[in-house]
Amino acid sequence: MKYAARIESLATSKAECIALPIYDSLDMSASAANLNRISDGQISRILKNGDLRKEVGSTVVIHDVANCDIQRIILFNAGPKAGVTSKKFIVIIKKLIIALQSLSIKSASVSVRDVKCEGRSSEWLIERTIEYFESGTYEYLEMKGISKVERTLLNKINFLCSRELLNAVRAGIKRGKALAGGMQLAKNLANAPGNICTPSYLAKKARQLCRGKTNLSLSVLEERDMKKLGMGAFLAVSQGSDEPGKLVIINYQGARKTKQPHVLVGKGITFDTGGISLKPPPSMPEMIYDMSGAASVLGTLSCIAEQELPINVIGVLAAAENMPSGKATRPGDIIKTMSGQTVEILNTDAEGRLVLCDALTYIDKYKPASVIDVATLTGAIITSLGSVASGLFSNDDQLAEQIISAGEVACDRVWRLPIWEEYQTQIASAFADMANIGGKEAGSITAACYLARFAKAYRWAHLDIAGTAFQGSGPSKGCTGRPVALLCQYLYDQL
Ligand code: BES
Ligand code: MN
Ligand code: ZN
Repeated sequence: MKYAARIESLATSKAECIALPIYDSLDMSASAANLNRISDGQISRILKNGDLRKEVGSTVVIHDVANCDIQRIILFNAGPKAGVTSKKFIVIIKKLIIALQSLSIKSASVSVRDVKCEGRSSEWLIERTIEYFESGTYEYLEMKGISKVERTLLNKINFLCSRELLNAVRAGIKRGKALAGGMQLAKNLANAPGNICTPSYLAKKARQLCRGKTNLSLSVLEERDMKKLGMGAFLAVSQGSDEPGKLVIINYQGARKTKQPHVLVGKGITFDTGGISLKPPPSMPEMIYDMSGAASVLGTLSCIAEQELPINVIGVLAAAENMPSGKATRPGDIIKTMSGQTVEILNTDAEGRLVLCDALTYIDKYKPASVIDVATLTGAIITSLGSVASGLFSNDDQLAEQIISAGEVACDRVWRLPIWEEYQTQIASAFADMANIGGKEAGSITAACYLARFAKAYRWAHLDIAGTAFQGSGPSKGCTGRPVALLCQYLYDQL
């Protein structure tokens, strides 16, 4: 979709469709009142007959608007005059894009000058609008024989605003487009099946992102490099697969070289069979999404780099496939991690923490300002938080607060869980420094406690996105693009 900012001028407009806000008291916004005057009371007649419902987000379409060249109007219920909450605002936007898409139009204008959201700027409003418009029209078509162009007609949105708002709307368009692009990249990667999206494919996509951009550079650690570095945990996962594992490192330099980078580490298990601790068949197909963390890291870098933000960010994709084979790790095997700590692998299905722990040790050399790892790490987080909030764990209260608040702003929320010492005893091992599983209780916490042992040198947070990154089955199956919006907002807050 193309987006532009325009100064509102309804009297002379020839738009195929204009969306105008009405407050939930059924009072008209200034724009709606203006058009009501032009059309000799057409809008007030519609409101009087009750066609626009009082629920926030309701819409009604008016054809043949009198005394002007506007072909159609959509009135949408924009809530109270003082403004809506962020959550209500998103409901409005989601319903509006459905209404717009149901029409046979190529372009639409949306009047935003009277739409308000409590405590949020116009820039935020436009950024979120584009995010949810793009999410609402997204389809994963790469494996289908039809192109997007043939499917959707609507391809242009004009945001109508006052002269004073023009710059804010333009800034919001820039942010929104960059974010939507990053989320789309993440979705296309995560939705790609395991036979296509291999560790090599992730490396290729990262290389494509960096190509021709002076602020992005790429390096890839191959298995032989990892062997030299002593990454026994990572290799214990990838050794069972014919697909070589890769540690993909994307360096975004937007600030001076000496400025400490923020590091994002993504779990990139391109397919998780469980390994020798094989998963039961019903829960296996959704394991194509086990690289959603890596996908969200790449999507975030795409968004940041497109805007040339003055910040340094390093993205690391820990990409491997978890397969059973004659070369695969056996339950009970003991390996040595890059940190020197040994691990008794009691369950080969707890593989995410194994690839991540070596990545967390490796990135210490960058002297990071902060580290956030993002992983579809545990089924237990789905039991705890469902698909509403991602699980947050951190060794730094200030960092945790920053991530919580970025999640609120981006409408991509997290909930913090503890990583107290008491839980550490659950991963004690008889033969090694630790086990890779911690028993039935508090599975997400013991997984985070395991990671914490490798992240002592810096400010670190872990996001368990197993419940939020994708919907595994059914008609709306697909990657959600979370937590790209959260990560981008976190980085904006560091500027
Ligand atoms: N990738 C899974 C976690 C997962 C489960 C993500 C469901 C998305 C949906 C992870 O590798 C895994 O298998 N975790 C195990 C850990 C257990 C063996 C300690 C789990 O959660 O069952
Ligand atoms: Mn697993
Ligand atoms: Zn996994």
